[in-house]
Amino acid sequence: MTPHSLGVHKVLSLLTPAVRPLVNWNAERRLAAAVNVADVRDAAKARAHKMVFDYLDAGADDEITLRRNKDAFSQIELHYRVLAGLKPPLDLSTRIMGNDVDVPFFPSPTAGSMMFHRDGEKGVARAARSHGAMYCLSTMGTTSPRDVAKALDDMDAKGPRRAVSERRGITRREGITNAFPQASSDSKKGGKLFQLYVWKDRSLVRDLLAQAKDSGFNSLALTVDLTWYGNRERDTRNGFTVPPAYTLKQMANAITRPAWTWDFLSSPEYAYAALDVAADARLARRRSMNPDDVSDRVSDTQEKEQALPTDRRSQVSFIRDAFDPSFSWDDAEWLVNEWGDVGPVALKGVVRPGDAKTAVERGFDAVWVSNHGGRQLETAPATIDVLPSVRTALGGTKAWVAARRAADAVRKQGGDDAAVARAVARDAPAMAVSKRTGLPIELLFDGGVQRGTDIVKALVLGADGVGLGKPYLYGLCAGGERGVAKVFDILRDETERAFGLLGVGSVKDAREASLFASNNDGIGKDDGRELNEAFVRRRAASARDFPDGGAWARGYGGGVW
Ligand SMILES: Cc1cc2nc3c(=O)[nH]c(=O)nc-3n(C[C@H](O)[C@H](O)[C@H](O)COP(=O)(O)O)c2cc1C
Repeated sequence: MTPHSLGVHKVLSLLTPAVRPLVNWNAERRLAAAVNVADVRDAAKARAHKMVFDYLDAGADDEITLRRNKDAFSQIELHYRVLAGLKPPLDLSTRIMGNDVDVPFFPSPTAGSMMFHRDGEKGVARAARSHGAMYCLSTMGTTSPRDVAKALDDMDAKGPRRAVSERRGITRREGITNAFPQASSDSKKGGKLFQLYVWKDRSLVRDLLAQAKDSGFNSLALTVDLTWYGNRERDTRNGFTVPPAYTLKQMANAITRPAWTWDFLSSPEYAYAALDVAADARLARRRSMNPDDVSDRVSDTQEKEQALPTDRRSQVSFIRDAFDPSFSWDDAEWLVNEWGDVGPVALKGVVRPGDAKTAVERGFDAVWVSNHGGRQLETAPATIDVLPSVRTALGGTKAWVAARRAADAVRKQGGDDAAVARAVARDAPAMAVSKRTGLPIELLFDGGVQRGTDIVKALVLGADGVGLGKPYLYGLCAGGERGVAKVFDILRDETERAFGLLGVGSVKDAREASLFASNNDGIGKDDGRELNEAFVRRRAASARDFPDGGAWARGYGGGVW
């Protein structure tokens, strides 16, 4: 028996308009005062239940990779070009997974957003859309693809809420995704990507994909770095569970976090939405077989399919057990075909150039360099360190720049994807292209990004798009949708400033700068230009990078406890 099973949340929700502003007063103040992502992290830590904040913030084992991801950026210098004659506003727009977007970054998929704040996935999706960014939903989301899509449709229906970059005077380009005839028109608004973990029960996977497609998700990512669940020791120590258990320890901490606790107790209990999606699909199948059936029970349909647990707690262990560690390249190829021509498919969790090449051979349209934010295999390399080698595996920076130039020129003239594919084959023969469409393979990146300069470094080192995990979750934890929007604002401003100071006026310019990105320890070297022309170079880390010590302790070091 829990307060939720007794319906306490329904009673408390009546008091929410009066109580919420009071219990959130401090959190709002902290969020308003935050000037960077590290400050937002502090605000999140002060608002959220410890168990929840630690789940967000933690890495695996000794958190070495967690720290590495972030520290590696500090070891890269930006060698700026002066008097570049750039006029603000700078153009941060680009194209990611077939979507025209206003900013080169996007929220990476993350599990269980409603545990951080009741705005959950819908709040993140709305904040992303208002910034003209692509949104990604995790299979382990606490909101279904259908409900996310509805939240965005409702937002769009409220009238043309002008995206941040439009307000700044930048006009958006229109997306063309005709290589994927079934793609939804969502690509013009930033687009929606659905992320999948692979489960043993294929019918469950199919049901999830079907709802994502029906809800206008126009791209897919298969995450492959979580075949075994990473060892997050903070979670073990805290007794982390979804939904929370009513232990004395948890309750004692809940009392010290009234804003989070009020939200939790006055809203419906959160749980992973995937099983509800599967249950709905089974019910629909059963009804289509027997239209007179008005029962809403699903158990009768479970004879041939694996039974779905109905109570929240057993659902969570069901999901954990459902991961399929034996998933292979053949299965990955099966999945690409299941998604079909709805849009591009990315392989998420790659750090080896060889795996990137195999992904291309197996039909993926995009490769996503990621180590799950340092939450999985401890001592995996920092993602920014391996990004250049994966770019090289996809044909190198020279071919990449030539391919994107060719694609831009064709699209400017109104050419379709087939024309882009022909132009790329002609002008950039070394560029790795999708077996399915002939379009250039996209390279997505995430891990450790917390500053605009980090985003710029990833772009110069070969990324087509840069994902953020923890940063926007800190925002969500600290203040719901407004907190996420604040993080996007901070990073947008920081990225524009970094572009301006570096002397590059657009994402395209940053990409072209990759031609100069060679350095003495192997960061892209295909152009052979003078070393002293490079925009980025690596240096040894130094304690001098964190002179006040406080920045390190506040989190700039990442996960330092
Ligand atoms: C709390 C949390 C939950 C996550 N859940 C998922 C998930 O469900 N699926 C997935 O592919 N990646 C998941 N990730 C990994 C992110 O997509 C992303 O790769 C990572 O967070 C990027 O690193 P960063 O947090 O340093 O930005 C999660 C990350 C965090 C922090």
